[in-house]
This record gives sequence, structure tokens and C-alpha cells, in this order.
Amino acid sequence: MKIFLDTADAETVRKAQATGLLDGVTTNPTKVAQSGRKFREVVAEICGITPGPVSAEAMGETAEQLIAEAQQIAAIAPNVVVKIPMTMAGLTAVGVLEGEKNIRVNVTMAFSSTQAYLAMKAGASYVSIVLSRLDAIANESDILIEDAVTVKQNFGFLTEIIGASLKTQNHVLSCLRAGVDVVTIPEGLFFQMFEHPLTDAALAQFAEDWEKVPK
Ligand code: E4P
Repeated sequence: MKIFLDTADAETVRKAQATGLLDGVTTNPTKVAQSGRKFREVVAEICGITPGPVSAEAMGETAEQLIAEAQQIAAIAPNVVVKIPMTMAGLTAVGVLEGEKNIRVNVTMAFSSTQAYLAMKAGASYVSIVLSRLDAIANESDILIEDAVTVKQNFGFLTEIIGASLKTQNHVLSCLRAGVDVVTIPEGLFFQMFEHPLTDAALAQFAEDWEKVPK
């Protein structure tokens, strides 16, 4: 399972990239706003830090608007993936972008396996299935990702399923169990996954005992 970082903070991407465990980055308009930086500037910098795919979101209501916006975003760097909303206009744009323009797309904000199916059928490179936002109103994210993986496997779709909006290590575990292709996780959760209090306790004891070993 690949790990993407869900952030628009370039320094955090640099720190995660240094671990050798990062496969890509996703951003969204909220995270870019939180960075306080210009959209194109921050996306270009992150694309230079990681060689993996970096998702940046196109804003627009019609397919034509989304296609035009996506082409602008795709020109920022070769590893840009354009996030397109899970709407009828969005999926109409996906067919053109993936089929004719050779632009990779991440369909974002899918909350059902039937939406995920439509995104796969439209030919999206990625579909982002949103877990914690669904769990906030109905505790159904486990079933959702299992069903999405089943849909992909039943019909041989090539779209990579991204488990998105993860807030806990249990969400990561659910994605590992379901066999999703990618998780995109906030920085706090990424760095938390390295840690365990029993690891700390055992290593502290070893360090203490090592001092007693004659050298
Ligand atoms: C992932 O690509 C999105 O940025 C993510 O689903 C949004 O997550 P949030 O629910 O934490 O805002």
C-alpha cells in the first residue's frame, strides 16, 4: 500500500520524503489556504520535493471549466495529478482529461462505492474515498472501502483507490485489511505511526542496561 501525505506544507513533505517511505502527496483547497501561500507556487515546490504524484484540485462547476483549469494545473509539473470533484460534470471532464489530454486525474470526495465505480468507469487514475467525513455521520467507512476494492477487483479496473480523510491508525489498518492501493494521511498521523510507548520503554531500558556493559 502506497503512502501519500495529505498536506500543502512543503517543509512537512521534505521531512516525510527524507524517510524514504513517501510515495506522493495530496492537497486540497483548505490545506493550500492554511499554507498562506500562492497555489501554483506551493504546488510547484512540493512537486520538486517528491518525485511521486502530487494532487492539486481544479475548481469549477462545468466540465469545460474543469478541463480548462486542469490543463493549467497539469502544466505546473510533470508529476501533478489533477483532483476533480465527484460530480457529473467532474466525471465528464475525467473522460476528456484522461482519454484525450493525457492528464492524470484523482476523483475526489467519493462517499459511496457506486460513486467510486463511476469514477473507475470514467477512467480516473485515482479515486479518493473519504473515510472520516463519512464516519462522522455514519460509521460505515470499513464497508465502503471493502466494497470499493471488490468493485475494482470484480471488473479489473486500473484506477488506484485512495483511502482519504484518515484520522486514526484504525483507519490505516482498515485500509490495509481492505487492500486499498493508497492511503493519504495527515502529517500528524504519518509521524505517529512510527511510534509506540512500548518501543520507547524497551529502547530506554536497553540504553540504560548498555551503560552497565563492560566495554
Ligand atoms: C484527500 O485527498 C483530501 O485532501 C482529503 O480527503 C480531505 O480530508 P479531510 O477530510 O481531512 O479534509
